[in-house]
Amino acid sequence: MCGIIGILGTQDASPLLIDALRRLEYRGYDSAGIATLHNGALDRRRAEGKLRNLEAVLRDEPLAGVAGIGHTRWATHGQPNVVNAHPHMSDRVALVHNGIIENFGDLRRELEGKGHTFTTETDTETIVMLLTDLLAAGVSPKDAMVMAMERLHGAFAIAVLIKGEEDLLLGARRGSPLAVGYGDGEMYLGSDAIAVGPLTPRIAYLEEGDIAVLTRQGAEIFNEKGEKVERRIQVTEVTGALIGKGNFRHFMEKEIYEQPAVIGETLGSLIDTVRRTTMLPPLPVDLAKIDRVTIVACGTSYYAGSVAKYWIESLVQIPVEVDIASEYRYRQGPVSPGGLALFISQSGETIDTLAAMRYVKSKGSATLALVNVPTSAMAREADGAMRTLAGPEIGVASTKAFTTQLAALACLAVGLAVAKGTIDNARASQITGALMEAPARCAELLARLDGDESFKKIVETISEARDVLYLGRGTSFPIAMEGALKLKEISYIHAEGYAAGEMKHGPIALIDEQVPVIAVAPSDHWFEKTASNLHEVAARRGHVIAITDKAGAAHLSGIARHIIELPDIDPLVAPLLYTLPAQLIAYHVAVRKGTDVDQPRNLAKSVVVE
Ligand code: F6R
Repeated sequence: MCGIIGILGTQDASPLLIDALRRLEYRGYDSAGIATLHNGALDRRRAEGKLRNLEAVLRDEPLAGVAGIGHTRWATHGQPNVVNAHPHMSDRVALVHNGIIENFGDLRRELEGKGHTFTTETDTETIVMLLTDLLAAGVSPKDAMVMAMERLHGAFAIAVLIKGEEDLLLGARRGSPLAVGYGDGEMYLGSDAIAVGPLTPRIAYLEEGDIAVLTRQGAEIFNEKGEKVERRIQVTEVTGALIGKGNFRHFMEKEIYEQPAVIGETLGSLIDTVRRTTMLPPLPVDLAKIDRVTIVACGTSYYAGSVAKYWIESLVQIPVEVDIASEYRYRQGPVSPGGLALFISQSGETIDTLAAMRYVKSKGSATLALVNVPTSAMAREADGAMRTLAGPEIGVASTKAFTTQLAALACLAVGLAVAKGTIDNARASQITGALMEAPARCAELLARLDGDESFKKIVETISEARDVLYLGRGTSFPIAMEGALKLKEISYIHAEGYAAGEMKHGPIALIDEQVPVIAVAPSDHWFEKTASNLHEVAARRGHVIAITDKAGAAHLSGIARHIIELPDIDPLVAPLLYTLPAQLIAYHVAVRKGTDVDQPRNLAKSVVVE
């Protein structure tokens, strides 16, 4: 959602704040702003839209000061304009906030009643006024934070500067993440390691309800009762190099091309490549005993879970329920003790998935998180955690996080099947062998499609379309939905993914020459059925584009106007490979249409509000 940064430093804070905001811009880009403390006084600069607008403002009106806070916004309450941009300020307090204050209406009325004047539509200004009120009543800054936390409902992380307090930076979190960075005579606050990592590798992650009181000498951390607590300082692996674009035009492009490497890394952490057995981390349940799996996630992570359903049900022969977190969390459904509840999330912070996980925990059941950010709330709160080793994913549209999730889920499915005795070691070794080949096939495909003329034609066709349908059966069905999601989120072309067999139950009415139909169709045991559905599309003059392999291409050449031929791969592992052309189509169509590929409109990377 929003990104926040705080610096209590010894050198000019503005350029460092802007640098950190550039790294955080993936969390939101509706507006940006910074405030600094200089000679005891607070001042701020803000701008609507992208960070470059704020940089332009700062060129005209620079901001001095060695202590500062910064914010990049994904709007929740109030229009994304300058007035509603953070930092929000009173005559005493400057504050940046990520999250939502649910009871801001009541608090605002109460504070207005006490004579405080509000100038924005935001929920954030309520926190500013609440703190201002407490400080004016003579409460110390730390106690004001404790007392304010007691009054606030909702999920939030904040960073606060107080007028006249040159050696003080305050932070607090509940629901939204916040990290403390320990420098040499300098201290930092930030939404994540990406914000703070290039300033200092020494980072402590605040826990639910924590309040941090930073001076240049260090940090004191308190729980929400105001009692002092210790939080472990860790050394982060995130450096500036990991989060640069390299020679690529966009982070998304870089992240697509990183997939062979990061899929390999993820598989390498979960497969003993000599014995070809899976090496799962300690899990909160005895795999041999579980009788069902519940998978909960949002967006792209939900589609990864949907592929896992096919894998687990066919290999392990136990039922798998896959649910969208925002639905699951409120449905008050049964949580059976004999099952495994798995929560999939790149960020590990998505509020609906986190809330669903907490619901399952509250029912006394064991939870397992599959996350890309190992320090995230889900990784910390789950009873067990598995990691994808995708590295920081900056492009808002998820790519490498998805395929590494698939890699990890395939390993989990194999480990589960072996534990339950539904496959033997020979079959397990055959599957892990096929998985280990996936990075090479992915690299081969990326090289093959790079500059490919017929692929360019497909991109041209799609960029001119108003609607696009993606079809698939079996594990290709979630890949079709993921392909459609990628296209719509970055190119703004309407796209839908359907189970190919569902076409004749409605969507076929949409088919005409203008609607490209992209079929995800490896020659697996669903292929013949998918091919029949494509015949039905072609018979209605539909424009079929088939993503298939050599055998599939031979079969479909009569009906598909375009074919993207992929290297042969074990059908079980095909989803990893077949995702890549869908990502590349979306990416190149978006580039052609001139959209903001890495920061598509209205989106943000980690969704920590409902
Ligand atoms: C789409 C995309 C989103 C995320 C979703 C869940 O490209 O990135 O649909 O997959 O917001 O995010 P995580 O995985 O962080 O929980």
